Formats: sequence, C-alpha cells, structure tokens
Amino acid sequence: MSKRSKVKPRDIPKKIPDETQEALADPAKVFYHKALMVQEEEKKRISRDLHDETGQIVIALGALLNVMEKELKDGNTQKTLEIIEESREMIKEIAGRMKAMALNLRPPEFDILGLPAVLREYFSQCTKLHPLKIEFNENLKDRKLEENIEIALYRIVQEAVYNIQKHSMATTAKIGLIIDNGELSLLIEDNGKGFNVEEYYANPDPTKMGLRGVRERVDMLNGVFFIESTLGKGTKLKIVLSSLL
Ligand SMILES: Nc1ncnc2c1ncn2[C@@H]1O[C@H](COP(=O)(O)OP(=O)(O)OP(=O)(O)O)[C@@H](O)[C@H]1O
Ligand SMILES: [Mg+2]
Repeated sequence: MSKRSKVKPRDIPKKIPDETQEALADPAKVFYHKALMVQEEEKKRISRDLHDETGQIVIALGALLNVMEKELKDGNTQKTLEIIEESREMIKEIAGRMKAMALNLRPPEFDILGLPAVLREYFSQCTKLHPLKIEFNENLKDRKLEENIEIALYRIVQEAVYNIQKHSMATTAKIGLIIDNGELSLLIEDNGKGFNVEEYYANPDPTKMGLRGVRERVDMLNGVFFIESTLGKGTKLKIVLSSLL
C-alpha cells in the first residue's frame, strides 16, 4: 500500500532563538540571519560528510596496511597481493567520493554561463559518477535571474539530486525549471522508493540537514516549497518563486 503526503514549509518547525526574535522584525535582518544559518549548517555538513564519507575508509586502509605487513613478514605473498588489490579498490572508492564532494562544493560560474547551462554541466558530471538518468527541461533560455536566486536554485537542485542518488534507488530524475508570467517553478521528480514525509517532519533529526537547508533557502526568497512522496513510486519537490518580473 502506498502512502501519500504533502507538507508546506510553514508546517516545519523553525529554530530561531528567543533573543533574536526582536531583531527579526526587520526583513533585511531576517534575510541576513537566515543566510548565516544556512552557511553554518553547510559547514557542519561538510565536516560531517568529510568524516563519514572519507574518514572511515582511511581508517580501514590503515588497518589493511597492518594486515599486509603481517602477511609479508609471514611470507604469504599471495595473501599480500590480494590485500593490495582490496586496498586499490578502496582507494578508487575514496577518490570517487572525494571527486563528488569537490564537485558539489565548487562555486557555480553563473556570470559566464547562466543557470540552465550551469545545471546542464552539473548534471553531465553527476551522470559520469552515478548511473542516474537526468532529464532536464527549462524555458529560461538566456534569461538572467538575480544571482542570489540562481545560487539558491543551484544549491537546491544539488541537494535534491544528491538525495535521489543517496536515498531513492531511482533510475530517472526529471527536473523542470519553468518561468511563466513572472512565476518560476522548479520541479524535481524521481521514480525511486519514496519516503514518508509526515513521519520525517514529525520526528525531526538534527543530523539531517539537506531538506531543512532547501526550506531555509526557499524561505529567504519568499517562495513556497512542497514535498510529495509516494512509497514505491517516487518523490516530487516543487519550489515556486513568484513576482520575478
Ligand atoms: N528523493 C528521495 N527519495 C527517498 N527518500 C528521500 C529522498 N529525499 C529525501 N529522502 C528522505 O528524507 C530524509 C531527509 O533528507 P535530508 O536531505 O534532509 O537528509 P539526509 O540526506 O539524510 O542528510 P543530509 O542531507 O544532511 O546529508 C532522508 O534521510 C531520506 O530518508
Ligand atoms: Mg540530503
């Protein structure tokens, strides 16, 4: 049986300390405060990912070196060669993960390319590293958006694609970036296993920062953010930014 859920951003609890509430009456300060929060969360996340994605493998490689040393001392050449092969595979794995992390951190070159071209380049790099088919449809053409909007949309797409690769087991992702009558919609859809959105929001896990970051970025742009997910069918994220004309 599949389960469906749709959650609007204002349903998600915010973490704004009491002492900052007063200062937050000023919209410029609200924006600045949120921008700082997003930055800090990203730093936390990079630190966590560095540890989780690469730290464990480096420790395992160190342990393999010890085994190799012992096998060599005991004269077991064949066993030593097998461990060398195993280490080589691990180094390949860590190199791939580091490449993906570096790609995600690289600042986008909007001034030269514009958002659709930057996204296209990003998708082509992603598909080299992960067997996910990405279908991208846009009608922005050469239209330039404000840089803070382009950066936010780019980071949102990155998070969504990374989530699809990490959690969904999807084979295809469809991404649409459509502007119509001054309203911009970003739709990201996958055909993966889906998840229970209500449960996710009912039991917030502070170590999960991605969708929270998406929500904060959309909030900063006064946009709306919807998630819809159906178990066994897939997940849709929709972001709408109005009054862009
Ligand atoms: N496309 C998706 N398909 C299936 N499950 C998803 C998808 N996107 C998100 N999820 C689920 O929602 C949860 C929250 O996502 P979120 O991006 O906030 O955290 P995370 O990816 O687990 O960690 P982080 O983004 O901090 O590295 C995920 O742990 C996963 O269970
Ligand atoms: Mg995530």
